[in-house]
Amino acid sequence: MEKKVIYSAVQPTSQLTLGNYLGAVNNWLKIQDDEQNDCIFAVADLHSLTIRRAPEEVESRTLSLLAQFLAFGLDEKKNVIYVQSHVAAHTRLAWILNCYTYVGEMARMTQFKDKSAKHADNVNMGLMDYPVLMAADILLYDTNLVPVGVDQLQHLEITRDIAIRFNNIYGETFKVPEALLGRAGAKIMSLSDPLAKMSKSDPNPMGRINVLDSEADIVKKFKRAVTDSEAVIAYDPEKKPGVSNLLTILAAVEGVTPEQAAAECEGMMYGHLKLRVADAVAAMLKPVRENYAALMGDKAYLLDMARRGAEKAAARADKTLARASKAVGLLVD
Ligand code: TRP
Repeated sequence: MEKKVIYSAVQPTSQLTLGNYLGAVNNWLKIQDDEQNDCIFAVADLHSLTIRRAPEEVESRTLSLLAQFLAFGLDEKKNVIYVQSHVAAHTRLAWILNCYTYVGEMARMTQFKDKSAKHADNVNMGLMDYPVLMAADILLYDTNLVPVGVDQLQHLEITRDIAIRFNNIYGETFKVPEALLGRAGAKIMSLSDPLAKMSKSDPNPMGRINVLDSEADIVKKFKRAVTDSEAVIAYDPEKKPGVSNLLTILAAVEGVTPEQAAAECEGMMYGHLKLRVADAVAAMLKPVRENYAALMGDKAYLLDMARRGAEKAAARADKTLARASKAVGLLVD
């Protein structure tokens, strides 16, 4: 039976959060262990250039994200793990796809509109072209499934539109990918504002747990988590968003339902509940922190690993690029 290609990429902008860990990373670890899956994980460094950053920061965050991937337990023997800019086919296919994508479509993208408002002094072409490069990422590997959050769904839709449009003109060239939507339940909210999602870009650092936070920081942040004044532990996201978020986190770490976590903690003081959740999270992230520190101490290993990954990725991507190039009439040798 043919394996399913599952493609994921993350921008090297900031550390992943506990929300990413319990939502996305846990799922990656599961899918990499299924023999039916052929998983590809990329560090989308080219995408990260759309927002102006210091070169040292781009470099260090790229290495850091590679190390985080491995520290979580992603295995280069089971998956292809690489850095986007190391595989030249991405930008080359993006150029071809640009010629089959309309300016109007890109101008309408929600993320483009949000980011251009937020970075009004730097509305560069890359920001507008972002979804086309993302389409190239996905289409190069004959991807079947792309695990996405709702914020990236529109980009996946446009990827499908571009692929279908191209195939209609030139015949079957690209596999049309589908979204692999995350399972509901593990949506983690901000600790300081439990009505907002825990986000990498939350300006309030107390609201999010970063996967590499020290144990002391984890405890400090949970201690200050916003709850309510009822002093009753119950899972009720509407009436008790703060307490319910703590229970959701505990449940996700322990692999039980939030209702079971609530029953387990019934009668506890809020302070006690917070410490209980903080301890569970700190224990879960401890090996990640330790692996990460060891990996970051060995830059040569990380670069080597990235090179091996890029070789495997390029061998596959180049075939698709040749197919697309030939389809439009470029001379392919
Ligand atoms: N745009 C994605 C994000 O910000 C990152 C990304 C780049 C991506 N290329 C991709 C995700 C291809 C999935 C598939 O999260």
